[in-house]
Amino acid sequence: MTAPATVPNGDALTSGRFAFGRNWSRFLATINEPRITAAGDSLGKLLGASELKGQRFLDAGCGSGLFSLAASRAGAEVVSFDYDPDCVACTSELRRRFSGGEAAPWRIERGSLLDESYLRSLGTFDVVYCWGVAHHTGAMWQAIDNLLPAVAPHGRIVLAIYNDQQYISRLWSGIKRTYQRLPGFLRPLYVAAIGSATFFKRLAVTCLASLLRLVTFRNPLVPFLNWLRETQARGMHGWYDLVDWVGGWPFEVAKPEEIFRHLRDRGFTLRELVTCPGHGCNEFVFERTDPV
Ligand SMILES: C[S@@+](CC[C@H](N)C(=O)[O-])C[C@H]1O[C@@H](n2cnc3c(N)ncnc32)[C@H](O)[C@@H]1O
Repeated sequence: MTAPATVPNGDALTSGRFAFGRNWSRFLATINEPRITAAGDSLGKLLGASELKGQRFLDAGCGSGLFSLAASRAGAEVVSFDYDPDCVACTSELRRRFSGGEAAPWRIERGSLLDESYLRSLGTFDVVYCWGVAHHTGAMWQAIDNLLPAVAPHGRIVLAIYNDQQYISRLWSGIKRTYQRLPGFLRPLYVAAIGSATFFKRLAVTCLASLLRLVTFRNPLVPFLNWLRETQARGMHGWYDLVDWVGGWPFEVAKPEEIFRHLRDRGFTLRELVTCPGHGCNEFVFERTDPV
């Protein structure tokens, strides 16, 4: 593992930010084969798992390293980086436990999306995977622009960016700011309170949808099954995902059309899109179709 002593921009941004790496380190204890399979399935859905074999895969803002591991198992040559040293340690530990350790064609290092020269030094990749990261850098559009040169001609970039829900997004921004201001011992209680509120809201909506299906002679279990599927998607863990959701700061949002136009104007063609109806991420897969 190579770990530069300092990460330009990344270090300056560490204060007043959510400690993603600490949360991922706790999640690490829960990682097991079903979670790894779910992560692989989610990659497969977006990119076609069989297509990853022999490809160069950059996991930009790797977090726990779970998706680097899934890509590595699918036969990709992986480079993972994150600005948070705890994420780098977590990813290295994941590689040690679940793959061939340092012998695997998988490099892990510390780096920042806001460090343009670091990104240029990495070269180009067939797949750049940047899921849920750019909107947490404090400079979302700059982070995306810095990453684009890393996509090889006809290579693909996966972006997941928080959906802009206008006043609801502003509410979430307030929730996250409040989390940052709370003393450490109150934070789990705060997360549990927000989690309960969102749980009961979702329960009420799901019950209503189920009732509507029942009176129209359709399977009333479908809304509950959809909910269950969502919570298990990507191999995440309900609690640690919630902590990341409530605490994840800085926080920016974008409408799907803003991301689409931004990438289109820079020579990329949209190949896949999964939109999110509520507070969550829209997922995009773009291909670099203009070589310039
Ligand atoms: C919500 S997590 C997503 C992790 C992972 N991509 C996934 O899909 O599970 C956001 C990650 O972005 C990382 N991050 C935030 N700012 C960054 C930056 N400037 N450069 C690199 N990584 C950054 C955080 O440390 C954190 O691991």
